[in-house]
Amino acid sequence: MKNEDSFISLPWELERDAPEFEGNDIKSPESLARYFIRKYTKKGDSVFDPFTGLGTTLFVAEELGRVPYGIEAEREKYEWVAAQLDNWMHIINGDAARVLNYPLPKMDFCFTSPPYMKISDKWNPLYSGDPSKAGYDKYIKRMGFIYKKIAEKMKRNALVVIQLDNIDGKRFTPLVRDVGLAVSKSLTPIGETIIKWENGKKDYPHTHCLIFKKK
Ligand SMILES: C[S@@+](CC[C@H](N)C(=O)[O-])C[C@H]1O[C@@H](n2cnc3c(N)ncnc32)[C@H](O)[C@@H]1O
Repeated sequence: MKNEDSFISLPWELERDAPEFEGNDIKSPESLARYFIRKYTKKGDSVFDPFTGLGTTLFVAEELGRVPYGIEAEREKYEWVAAQLDNWMHIINGDAARVLNYPLPKMDFCFTSPPYMKISDKWNPLYSGDPSKAGYDKYIKRMGFIYKKIAEKMKRNALVVIQLDNIDGKRFTPLVRDVGLAVSKSLTPIGETIIKWENGKKDYPHTHCLIFKKK
């Protein structure tokens, strides 16, 4: 991989309150989406987050004059985010794997923090915990499949940035490598940025963003 911006530091600060039904655990700091959206897009560009969560990417995109699009599997989160977006009609309550079935345009840029899975987990977060789809291998395969579909929704030369972390534990989970490998089957890896969190939690000093290009 060629160096994009190998090391940067950003403030660890959650600027928006999370809803009571969810809490802050899944939210990433606004500074992260803001850094990549500013760096890789211009006003009026479409910014896509296929795992919208609590909408951090979409809120920041709208704040910066970009046009947000997103998919979120959980109805409660989808409704909470849509209610706060001017472009509420651009967010879909659905499955990122079905991205080609939804009325979405080709995108200029994609930034997301996908759901993480530990190698020892007994459920697969991509299928709402369906036990028949449990297993790390199935999760990684599905991530590859989802990003293959997302690649088809991207404009030529568009960038796709994925935030990932390796997960410590009794069994170490090399998520950055495994998701990166799966996604690189359909998108070309062009760089990795490691972000040091300023004022971050002691047990979460940094995060990784893998950068891919649609050729
Ligand atoms: C880590 S969170 C994203 C957090 C987001 N970056 C934020 O700051 O709020 C991942 C989200 O993906 C959603 N999700 C899980 N599987 C999905 C799927 N197959 N399609 C779309 N969304 C999915 C989860 O419900 C969760 O809200």
